[in-house]
Amino acid sequence: MQSQIKLEGMKPGHLEQVAALSVVESQLPFVGTMEEILVNVDDVVHPVVIQMEARVVGFFLVDTQYGQRYDFAPGDALGLRGFFVDQHYQGQGIGTRAVAALKTFLRAEYPHAHQIVLTVNCKNPAAKICYERGGFIDVGELYHGGAAGPQHVMSMMLETQEEEAR
Ligand SMILES: CC(C)(COP(=O)(O)OP(=O)(O)OC[C@H]1O[C@@H](n2cnc3c(N)ncnc32)[C@H](O)[C@@H]1OP(=O)(O)O)[C@@H](O)C(=O)NCCC(=O)NCCS
Repeated sequence: MQSQIKLEGMKPGHLEQVAALSVVESQLPFVGTMEEILVNVDDVVHPVVIQMEARVVGFFLVDTQYGQRYDFAPGDALGLRGFFVDQHYQGQGIGTRAVAALKTFLRAEYPHAHQIVLTVNCKNPAAKICYERGGFIDVGELYHGGAAGPQHVMSMMLETQEEEAR
C-alpha cells in the first residue's frame, strides 16, 4: 500500500525539515532555492508542507492575492507557487498525490475560494502532468513574465459540481 500524503500549513516546528528540502540544480529555474521561496511568505502568501509518514517531503505556497497580482487570473483566484518535492523523494508519485489532495485541503482552509491558478514552465512536462492528473486544466494561455521562458497557465475550480450547478 502507498504511504499516506498529508498537506498541512507550515508551523515553526517544520522549519528545520523545510530548510533541508532541495531540488536538483537543473530544476532550480522552475522554483528557485528553498531560501528564495521562503522570502515570499507573509500574511497573504502561506507556506504549506507536503508530508509522508510525518516527514516533510515537499512544499508549496498558497498566494491569496494571486488574482490581484496577475492579469491572467480572476481577481479572487488563489495561486499555487513554489510547488516542489524534495529531490530524494521525486519519481515516487508524491507530487501527483499531493496535487490530488490539494482541492480538499484548500476547501477546508479557504472555504470562500472558487479557483486556484498556477503557471508551469513549458520545459517542465513532469510538473504539468502532475497538475493535470490532480485536476488542473491548461487554460490555453501562455505567460511570458517568468525568467526561465514561457509558462502554461493552469487552473482548477474548487467548488463541487453541485455547488457549480446552483
Ligand atoms: C514536478 C514535481 C513536483 C513532480 O513530483 P514527483 O513526486 O517527482 O512526481 P510524480 O512521481 O508524481 O511523477 C509525476 C509524473 O512526472 C513525470 N516525472 C517524474 N519525475 C520525472 C523526471 N525526473 N523526469 C521526467 N519526468 C518525470 C512522470 O511522467 C511521472 O509520471 P509516471 O508516474 O507516469 O512516471 C517534482 O519533480 C519537482 O519538485 N520538480 C522540481 C520543481 C518543479 O519543477 N516544480 C514545479 C514548478 S511549476
